[in-house]
Amino acid sequence: MPTITFEGQEYFCAGDETILECMTRHGVLLPSSCQSGACQSCMIRALEGTPPPESQSGLKDTLKQQNFFLACICKPTGDMSIGLSSVSPRKTVKVTEKELLNESVVRLRLERPSGFSYRAGQFINLLRPSDELTRSYSLASIESDDFLELHIKRVPEGKMSNWVFDELQLGDDVVFFGPAGDCFYISGRIEQPLLLVGTGTGLAPLYGILRDVFSHRHTGPIHLFHASLATAGLYLEQTLRDLHAEHANLTYTPVVLHGEPPEGGLQGNLVDIPSHVLGSLSGYRVFICGDPAIVNALRQKCFLAGASMQDIYSDPFVFSPHD
Ligand SMILES: Cc1cc2nc3c(=O)[nH]c(=O)nc-3n(C[C@H](O)[C@H](O)[C@H](O)COP(=O)(O)OP(=O)(O)OC[C@H]3O[C@@H](n4cnc5c(N)ncnc54)[C@H](O)[C@@H]3O)c2cc1C
Ligand code: FES
Repeated sequence: MPTITFEGQEYFCAGDETILECMTRHGVLLPSSCQSGACQSCMIRALEGTPPPESQSGLKDTLKQQNFFLACICKPTGDMSIGLSSVSPRKTVKVTEKELLNESVVRLRLERPSGFSYRAGQFINLLRPSDELTRSYSLASIESDDFLELHIKRVPEGKMSNWVFDELQLGDDVVFFGPAGDCFYISGRIEQPLLLVGTGTGLAPLYGILRDVFSHRHTGPIHLFHASLATAGLYLEQTLRDLHAEHANLTYTPVVLHGEPPEGGLQGNLVDIPSHVLGSLSGYRVFICGDPAIVNALRQKCFLAGASMQDIYSDPFVFSPHD
């Protein structure tokens, strides 16, 4: 039974337990959200002992070398001493704008801390100051904006999203750490065709990536498909139509699963639509964000339609199983 030492106390990790489960069972609350290795909010550091390689999956080599690992997927194989010494310090910022983008999506703009750098499409981990409840949200803003923009969907019974909708006010402080994630545009190959596909607030990172792409003067064709269950769930429609009017290489297609699609849109299953409309995706760079099941199905579909796995970037919005 491995022993985990944290802040001078020893905790025994049972059988198949992860370090996060072990600490939670002992009443020690480490930050966490997705509990499946996707959001990096539970990243901590091994001060002694070696984290198993699978607990470092998705981390940059520089972090691996410093023994950072993800507590939610770390089943220790020997004794470890762990520390919270965070790779990205927490920042406290004010809410500067709060606006409904549709009935169930709110746009939050936050002060951008000086020196905070990120890539459009990465995500931050937002903390509710009263109890440190932590959730990941993608950045819809770009490096040259003087604010950070988030699009947050109200989830039935959702702790963080309902707090944001109903209680968080303009001028309030929120805390975040990050950025993290590798779903962003790397400049170069400006003639390459791009495919951006998202469901719901999966548009947030895609909107950031799209603006980033234009700031790098990308010349290749860019196809954006944004899907929702029905028309009421779409948002930023006019902004995207305006971007299309400004950039001849952008095609914007709203997609709805049920009911009549808006003008120029399609009705059907998003998973089938991009490859059906575009044919072969050979040579495309693909960005897919939003609902985890749809993201995973689309990854497979795009690969089968000819896109190289190396050119497929994705952010499944994995949700927290419990708190
Ligand atoms: C990398 C990453 C980026 C993300 N970016 C965004 C973003 O830009 N915008 C955004 O709105 N969200 C985003 N999310 C999701 C976000 O982190 C939260 O999971 C979401 O806001 C729900 O949190 P909550 O506290 O309101 O709900 P919770 O209290 O965590 O959940 C309440 C209940 O709803 C269930 N649930 C939660 N979400 C869903 C869902 N989508 N579908 C079905 N059941 C669900 C839970 O299992 C639980 O039973 C992202 C997630 C990840 C991992
Ligand atoms: S990666 Fe561990 S809680 Fe999300």
